[in-house]
Amino acid sequence: MSLMALDVHQASVVQMLKVAGFDRQALTHCRQQLGTPAHRAEHVGRVGAQLLRSTLNNEVLQAIAAFPGSGYKALLLRGIELSTEVRSPCDGFLPEAECVLDFDLLHFGMLDLLGVRCHAVEYENLGKLVRNVVPVAHAVGTTSSWGADVDFSWHTDNPNWPFGDQAQDVARSVPNYLAFIAVRNQEQASTDIVCIDHVLAQLPSWAIEHLSEPSYAFGAPASNEGFDGPHRVMPILERGADGYRLRFDDGIVTALNPRAEAALSQLRAVLGQVRGIELVLQPGDFFIFKNTRVLHRRRAFKPLPEGQARWLRRVYGN
Ligand SMILES: [Fe+2]
Repeated sequence: MSLMALDVHQASVVQMLKVAGFDRQALTHCRQQLGTPAHRAEHVGRVGAQLLRSTLNNEVLQAIAAFPGSGYKALLLRGIELSTEVRSPCDGFLPEAECVLDFDLLHFGMLDLLGVRCHAVEYENLGKLVRNVVPVAHAVGTTSSWGADVDFSWHTDNPNWPFGDQAQDVARSVPNYLAFIAVRNQEQASTDIVCIDHVLAQLPSWAIEHLSEPSYAFGAPASNEGFDGPHRVMPILERGADGYRLRFDDGIVTALNPRAEAALSQLRAVLGQVRGIELVLQPGDFFIFKNTRVLHRRRAFKPLPEGQARWLRRVYGN
């Protein structure tokens, strides 16, 4: 892992948990317990959580359970090294006959231990729960989780909705969490995050004030292929119980008056030069971050051909 941190504050953003030793026989037992597809996420999560409870020491289990209420903005669990012969899905979806159950056991098992509930949204990814973050030919040139050839600069996912505690429907809210499992990443493409508190510390107070006003129109991000609703007018920044939270994606936000535009320009200038924490996820890494408390980005990379391209699996959580 390449961890490039500017200062102690940045390094304290990510809780890193290392697993020493993993009994692969336990995975075989879990596969037998689950039988053949199709599997339900909750069931896989329960079996995966049992596996993790029997594998991880108490200190690690306590740190996982405490993460949602902690000051950490992201958590990385590393050391359960997994591999698969299943090819990276070139159209973004796994064929019905294929699954990556070992990865799903870890992915949903960790969500179970964290107490994070995952959800699908009907307006993207064909309403499927797991998004395969993988280069897809028709997404060339787009800032999408299916893109690769252009930078997808600092953003939060699905910023065109109210925050979770303001919404009646979780599928029409900004997801609180993005949770990933890494299947392969031979290209060593990094997933970068930066804490919004670190960004705000570099903004003048007048800009923070204007960014907190409902003076910005949000369209739908490129991934919302099934959503064609109206633009929503909201602030970029809001103060929550545990600090500021932010919704942002430069490609879909428009300022509605000159002072909102001036504040947006300041934010763009800071994001243009900020250094984040660069995480090169490895097969079997579980990575989760608080989507309203950090921005994330993925720089352009050249994917490997023939089913070997970088492949992460992502779910939204609340
Ligand atoms: Fe994203």
